[in-house]
Amino acid sequence: MTSSAFDRLEALRDEILSWSPTDAESLEAFRSQFIGSRNVIKPLMGEIREVPDERKKAFGQLINEVKELATVRYEEAKNQTHTGRPEAGNTLQLDLTAPGEPIEMGSRHPVSITMNRIVRIFGRMGFTVAEEREIEDDWHNFSAMNTPEDHPARDMQDTYYLRDYPELLLRTHTSSVQARTMMAHKPPIRIIAPGRVYRNETISARSHCQFHQVEGLYIDRGVSFADLKQTLLHFSREMYGASTQIRLRPSYFPFTEPSAEMDVSCFICNGKGCHVCKHTGWVEIMGCGMVDPQVLINCGIEPEEFTGFAFGMGIERQAMMLYGITDIRWLFENDLRFLRQFAAAR
Ligand code: DAH
Repeated sequence: MTSSAFDRLEALRDEILSWSPTDAESLEAFRSQFIGSRNVIKPLMGEIREVPDERKKAFGQLINEVKELATVRYEEAKNQTHTGRPEAGNTLQLDLTAPGEPIEMGSRHPVSITMNRIVRIFGRMGFTVAEEREIEDDWHNFSAMNTPEDHPARDMQDTYYLRDYPELLLRTHTSSVQARTMMAHKPPIRIIAPGRVYRNETISARSHCQFHQVEGLYIDRGVSFADLKQTLLHFSREMYGASTQIRLRPSYFPFTEPSAEMDVSCFICNGKGCHVCKHTGWVEIMGCGMVDPQVLINCGIEPEEFTGFAFGMGIERQAMMLYGITDIRWLFENDLRFLRQFAAAR
């Protein structure tokens, strides 16, 4: 009798140890069997009377151990139900073949996608990326770029100056990177400078007070306007398709002479005329020209020895045309419903 009380206790202990809950019902069955007021351990406690004195202590310890074990197993199993995946309902068994929680991938911003494409195209032509500060001084942004104070060209770009540091400003164009690069490096120079620029403009569907540009600069012996033209033609065809045409219209920038604006044949209608090109067949992409000898002098490069070309283009307008975005403000609002649409692009 006594040995069988021991045996039955040990059998209960093994049962508890090997038990694994399958659902809320089995959890409740376990509770009433081992913990509830009419649990199966309780009647065994009475049998301690039958146990020989020298084994009473061991028997008592075993009873406590089994009771404790039941409580611990029950609590464990209960917590498992509460922290289980919601769709698993009350099921306690883990389904190791179930798909995991998805890791949500971010998406690239359309401005970054467009900028990366431009940088990659020029990268293949041997241009290296130059990145510079957005808080710039007057000299690098304007004076070095042949735009001295009181020069009317300063009116072209409404500038944000820093209130407590009037000699500092938020760069109005990436052309300031030209000055920084020429000051720091000897030709040959072949850089592409992507980055953010700022202008005090009224925010509307078509313009913003912050936007992005990519600047290019190539300086070496014997660089000519023909090099500029071929470089831009190659870029345009890589960017907008092999049949793209370009045209250069005479223009004015203080830092280039001669200066031009470059249009590409409309990549939506192939030049036939549509709303994107406003029925002209052409879309303006960038300003460019031969680096003005005065800019070379300002930046310590000998203009008798070296010549160069430069260009600068806005990114937002190109991104908007490529993706059919009709309001520039979408690009700065960080609305996830908008941004998620670019998840597949790089
Ligand atoms: N910096 C000019 C702008 O923001 C764009 C530009 C025009 C850059 C001609 C150049 C250039 O490098 O040669 O409007």
